[in-house]
Formats: sequence, C-alpha cells, structure tokens
Amino acid sequence: MADASIDDATTRTESGAQSAAGAGATAGATATGDQSVADNATAAIDSATAIKPYDDECVTPSEPEAKAKGEHIGAVVYFSSVSNNTARFIESCGFPDEGINVYRIPLRPKEAPLQVREPYVLIVPTYGGGNIAKALLPQIRKFLNGHKNRSFIRGVISSGNRNFATAFCAAGDIISKKCHVPFMYNFELLGTPDDQRQVRDGIHDFFLNAKNERDAQGQEQ
Ligand SMILES: Cc1cc2nc3c(=O)[nH]c(=O)nc-3n(C[C@H](O)[C@H](O)[C@H](O)COP(=O)(O)O)c2cc1C
Repeated sequence: MADASIDDATTRTESGAQSAAGAGATAGATATGDQSVADNATAAIDSATAIKPYDDECVTPSEPEAKAKGEHIGAVVYFSSVSNNTARFIESCGFPDEGINVYRIPLRPKEAPLQVREPYVLIVPTYGGGNIAKALLPQIRKFLNGHKNRSFIRGVISSGNRNFATAFCAAGDIISKKCHVPFMYNFELLGTPDDQRQVRDGIHDFFLNAKNERDAQGQEQ
C-alpha cells in the first residue's frame, strides 16, 4: 500500500494534484494548498455516503476491458458515465501499449461487479454538481466498498469541470483521504494532449519503479 499520510494525501495545489510522474517517483503525495477542500472531503466521507468495506474475499477476478501488451507492469481502473469523457481520455492514453491492463467500473447495476486483484491507479470523474458530499458516484463507491478491490488501490486521478470551483475534482480528494493513497493528478473534461502524456508516462513510471524496487529486494535476499 502507498504510505502517504492522511494530511498529505488530501491536499493539492491550486492547479490540482501533483504530477503523475512526481507521484510515481515518490509514491506519496506532497502537494500543499487548498485545505478547505480537504476538510470538506473529510466531512463528506464521514457522512452517510462514506465508503464502508465489505468482504469480497471469495470472488473470481474480472477480465480487463483492454489487456496489457508485452510485459505487464500494472493496471488502471476507471469509471465513465454515458457522456464517456473519461473513457475517451483513457483510450487516448494507450495504456495497453505501456504494459498496463485497463478495467472499467460498470455503469449499470445489472452488470457483474468489477473485481480487481492487482495493484491499480483509479481514474474517476467528479459528480455532485458542486456538492462535495455527493462527488463520488454510487458505482465508484460500490467498487471501493469491496475490501479486496480497495486493498489494491495505489493512487487516484480525478477529472472534473472548473466551473464547479472548490468542488473541482473533489472525488480525488475524497478517495485519496479514505484510501490513504496519493492524489496523483487531475484534469478537466477530456483532458489535453499534455494531460494524456503526463498520465500515461506517470503511471508507467509509477509501476516500473515499483517493479524495479521489488526486483531489487528479491536480489538482496
Ligand atoms: C450532473 C453533473 C455534475 C457534475 N459535478 C461536478 C463537480 O461537482 N465537480 C467537478 O469537478 N465536475 C463535475 N462535473 C463534471 C464532470 O466531472 C465531467 O463532465 C467529466 O468529464 C465527466 O466524465 P464522464 O463523461 O466520463 O462521466 C459534473 C458533471 C455533471 C454532468
């Protein structure tokens, strides 16, 4: 698990979270800034909508929507609503070519729940219309309520719309705080080509560093 402290993991700079590449290098959130957003996020997760884990121990893992090509180094899990902005962003990042599996959280309750059993970075849009307590959609909360699903999260990236001012990308603050992982990056709507490059390269480096560390530890033994 990432070891970012709660306070570090719930703060962010004016322009958003730290770079995905930066989080990859440090495996911890170092951004400073908008404490009121963090406080509101804390209030939100302590409310009736808080993430409450359940035991999903005995479930078969889901297949990725898009499988890693070549050497498999990590995974991305994302949610996108019918407007599909996040899905289009994910598609343009080309994660499978970087050795990264891509999983999608189901949109509709009738679909089989997603069960992920490998380390992943979560990429989710923010909802709630400016109400931070409602920033996390139920589908995302349901996924994170799974005890096993939650145990594999390593970082979060959130999207949103700057029109929502202090609630911009608030889903990232909430998840970072609750799951004790770095808020690695944020972007608006479909993201820019620069956002795509930073997220793709940052997540690639994040998992490659983790793999190299594991390999080095293995050699020492
Ligand atoms: C009903 C609604 C509420 C939204 N609320 C917020 C919000 O509180 N904060 C924010 O940053 N963005 C908010 N957004 C913007 C979405 O996060 C943004 O449009 C995102 O790209 C949607 O991604 P998707 O198409 O993959 O679902 C809202 C969008 C809608 C439609």
